[in-house]
Amino acid sequence: MSELSENAKKTIAEHLPRYPSKQAVTLPALHVVQQEKGCVSRKSIHEIADILELSPAQINDTLSFYGFFRSEENPLGQKRIWVCRSLPCMLRGGEELLAELCKRWGISPGETTPDGKVTLELAECLGACDGAPCILVDDELQLRVTADDVEKIADHPKSSGGK
Ligand code: FES
Repeated sequence: MSELSENAKKTIAEHLPRYPSKQAVTLPALHVVQQEKGCVSRKSIHEIADILELSPAQINDTLSFYGFFRSEENPLGQKRIWVCRSLPCMLRGGEELLAELCKRWGISPGETTPDGKVTLELAECLGACDGAPCILVDDELQLRVTADDVEKIADHPKSSGGK
């Protein structure tokens, strides 16, 4: 049985005409799979390699170069919350925010809560320093947040499907 869904295969195929080579679709393909599954499994790496006519090692090279992708042993939670750790945010409460979130959730940056709700990550400047402290919730920027705000966001179910 295929690890990649029909929708993931279709989305990857739709990327092919937009790039100069199949190899150039490696990164978008990894994003498609991680977004759908919360991780990129070894089986997914092989299936992406087949689609792109590359070796699994080539896919793995790209995957391991970026700290963004998760393996099946360490999948993402339902929400991925990135706390900005660059200086302006840290000076305007980001440090305390991060410490409080780690305390409330009992995890360190890079880890996922035991209930699988949240993965906490550290981000470099999110380009919105005037709204410090900032976080990114999946791909949505949130400004001037408190730990209570972040907890509410984490508890709120996702409005759209997928990871
Ligand atoms: S320092 Fe946090 S958004 Fe720029």
